[in-house]
Parts: sequence; structure tokens; C-alpha cells
Amino acid sequence: MSKGFVTGGDKIPKHIAIIMDGNGRWAKKHLMPRSLGHKYGMERMIGLMEHAFDLGVDYITVYALSTENLKRPKEELEGLFDLFRKYFKQYFGRVCEKGVRLRAIGDISLLPDDVQQVLREAEAETAQYQGKGINVAVCYGARDEIVHAVNRAIERGEKVTEESFSRLLYTAEVPDPDLIIRTGKEVRLSNFLLYQAAYAELYFSDKMFPEFSDKDLEGAIEEYSRRTRRFGKTDEQL
Ligand code: IPE
Ligand code: IPE
Ligand code: MG
Repeated sequence: MSKGFVTGGDKIPKHIAIIMDGNGRWAKKHLMPRSLGHKYGMERMIGLMEHAFDLGVDYITVYALSTENLKRPKEELEGLFDLFRKYFKQYFGRVCEKGVRLRAIGDISLLPDDVQQVLREAEAETAQYQGKGINVAVCYGARDEIVHAVNRAIERGEKVTEESFSRLLYTAEVPDPDLIIRTGKEVRLSNFLLYQAAYAELYFSDKMFPEFSDKDLEGAIEEYSRRTRRFGKTDEQL
């Protein structure tokens, strides 16, 4: 498929958020350890990001680790942190060198110091880029994000508006997601972008994340392009 698969650039979502689920089940099916499922998942994510930017998407947010995932066995978490230590710079560096700004969203302070360092360095190295961005949600939970934002507003002694509240969230400066894709057969948000998802189009795939191909991404965008986003209005008002 080429960029011309839908007419009009407005049919390409500006911001896609992805819940990369199913790495563990995919690994199990292929008789691999879960850690290898996460590695294949991370590689697939990089491929999808490159493809999405080529198609004209401006922002991609990926749910890599939730606050609730921190309750997983220590061994699995260590495997995930090791993945960040060994491959994060190499993989994300490849996408970001094309002018993409990387932000880590979530309570990064819960990560081991050296993993925090990897993320901070990637943020600093890409801070000069504007217009295109990747948000990596690590130790991210939407409820945690909202509670943090409320406390910040209280500390400042400020009443908030919808706009000013958005700017207190981890995703400040990034437009709300237009399309949220979840792989792995589950039909839920699992504490992801609950405030920002107010008018996002949702797309669920039965495929496990490591097998979600570039073509599958195109399929999700194609379906998105056929939907009517009314934002509360009538068809006649659009
Ligand atoms: C998603 O894959 C990635 C993370 C939560 C880190 P899972 O690890 O949840 O994979 P399944 O759902 O067990 O297959
Ligand atoms: C959601 O997947 C979190 C990430 C993809 C990082 P989970 O596998 O943790 O979701 P639940 O537990 O099935 O809702
Ligand atoms: Mg899962």
C-alpha cells in the first residue's frame, strides 16, 4: 500500500497510540521464554514506528510498561529492564535520527537508576526536534498520571480548565491520540491514556503484538479513515 490508499491527508491519524499486548502469549506459543517475546515485541514496535512515520503519522505513543506491570515477577521485570539497557538506544536511535523527539511518560523514578539514565539521555539527544514525536509509556498508569496532575494543581493553588489540566499530564505538548490500537485480543484500555482518549477511535486486533505486521497497521489506519468522527455534533454540522 502506498500513501495514496486514502484520499486526503486528514484521513491519516496524526497521533497513534499502541497498547502492545500479547508478547508473553506469543512467546509461549513458540516455546520461547517471555523475555524473548518482549524482545521480538520491541523490534516489531520499531518497524511499525518507521512505517507509521513514512505514512505521515506525526506522533506515536507506545505502552511499554504499566504501573500495574510492576507487580509482575522480578525475573520478568529484570528481563524487561535489561532489554532497555541493551537495545533501547540502538533501536530508538534508529527512528529518532530522522528528526523524531522522544519523551518518556510515566513515573520514571520507579525504574532502576541506569534505566532512567537511558531514557533521560534519549530525551536529551532528541529534545531539539519538533513536529514528530515518540512517547514511550514506562511505569505509566493513567490514574497515577491524573492524581499527579491534580496534586500539582493543588500545590500551585490553581483551579484548572480542561486545557490547563492537559498541560499538567505527562503528555503535555502532545495532541490527544486520534487512534488507539490494542493487539493481543483483549478489549480494554488497562489504565492507558484515560483522559486523553476521550475522543480517540479504538481498534482491537486479535493478533499478538510480535505478529502485528505493517499491513495490519495499514488495515487499522484504513478502518480509521472510514469512520466518522462527530465529536458530539450531527453529520450535517460536520
Ligand atoms: C505486553 O505483553 C507487554 C508488557 C505488558 C510488558 P504481555 O507481557 O502482557 O503479554 P501477554 O498478555 O502475557 O501475552
Ligand atoms: C497492558 O497490557 C500494558 C501494556 C501493554 C504495557 P497488560 O497485559 O498489562 O494488560 P492486562 O493486565 O491484560 O489488562
Ligand atoms: Mg498482556
